Amino acid sequence: MKAMVVTQYGSPDVFNENELPDPHPGPGQVSIDVTHSAVGLIDVFVRRGTIPVFAPPFVPGLEVAGTIREIGEGVTGFRVGEPVVTLSLMSVGGYASITVADAALTISLAGFQIDPALAVSALPNAVTAYLSLTRVARMQQGERILIHGAIGGLAAAYPAVARSLGASRIVGTVRTASKLEAARRLDYDEVVLAEELAASLGDERFSLVVDPVGGDLLAASLELMEPLGRALLVGNASEQALNIASTTLWLNNIGVQGFNVGGYLSANPSAGRPAAEAVLRLVEAGLIDIPLTRLPLGQAAEAHRRLEAKDIVGRIVLQQA
Ligand SMILES: NC(=O)c1ccc[n+]([C@@H]2O[C@H](COP(=O)([O-])OP(=O)(O)OC[C@H]3O[C@@H](n4cnc5c(N)ncnc54)[C@H](OP(=O)(O)O)[C@@H]3O)[C@@H](O)[C@H]2O)c1
Repeated sequence: MKAMVVTQYGSPDVFNENELPDPHPGPGQVSIDVTHSAVGLIDVFVRRGTIPVFAPPFVPGLEVAGTIREIGEGVTGFRVGEPVVTLSLMSVGGYASITVADAALTISLAGFQIDPALAVSALPNAVTAYLSLTRVARMQQGERILIHGAIGGLAAAYPAVARSLGASRIVGTVRTASKLEAARRLDYDEVVLAEELAASLGDERFSLVVDPVGGDLLAASLELMEPLGRALLVGNASEQALNIASTTLWLNNIGVQGFNVGGYLSANPSAGRPAAEAVLRLVEAGLIDIPLTRLPLGQAAEAHRRLEAKDIVGRIVLQQA
């Protein structure tokens, strides 16, 4: 099979296009002929070794769409050729023409009218949104939610999912005016520039802040929370350290929670499928309408360069040539 291999931690130049032996599924797994591989900021951190969970050489890629190629021992409910998308896998291997995935984290697209590029861009992140909002933030009907980096790959999945769970108001922030239009196509009531947040919103306060950015932005957001509000930290796109005085939390009766879908699904693999079933219709209905940039698989390095340059609105997908 064809694969984009990270030969050592470092810049995007470390990618090598290689021919590797075809992988076969073990018990409880399927193999997938990959048509589309999602590229996210987490892949950049994994490639650099900032998140050193995989030792080089490895093939990055946590999420793919494609068709079932082989079915492993003990797996039922799939047929060869069936269109599928994976949730965020606990292993790498997606930047390839064939990959192997746990059947429990592989979701059938049969019967759904969803472009596989959108499916791989939106479904795993919608599952992350659903699990983090229901299992960690324990979101209630009527909540007022602030979402940072509103058109980022992960963040873009939150408004539709939060709305489906009964949010009464959803506000997004972006850093640059060029991202406002795309963000406003999502299910936000309002999208504002992060630097104008306090001025734009006046006295408005939120019961929940969803933050994939971290650092100073999260610290500033704590000022915008209602008593007993929670900040849900789901990423660190800013790569800044978190600097919050403990008194800020207890004096104001607010909390900071964290969620990582890979770790969660690793411990609770059976939670993936019901979560996917809860959000698939949102994706099919076009409610996670995120701009997609499609590049050939061989341009993985270029995809990473664009993500690092923050030169992207929406998501990048690698597709087979
Ligand atoms: N918790 C999980 O399970 C999970 C799952 C997937 C990803 N993640 C993490 O989530 C984060 C985002 O990943 P992604 O793939 O969505 O990335 P992405 O598509 O690049 O989106 C990141 C967004 O963050 C904003 N941003 C970036 N740098 C910033 C800065 N210095 N200050 C303020 N805003 C900044 C950008 O929006 P603006 O330019 O509009 O500000 C951008 O749209 C990463 O840390 C990733 O590791 C976590």
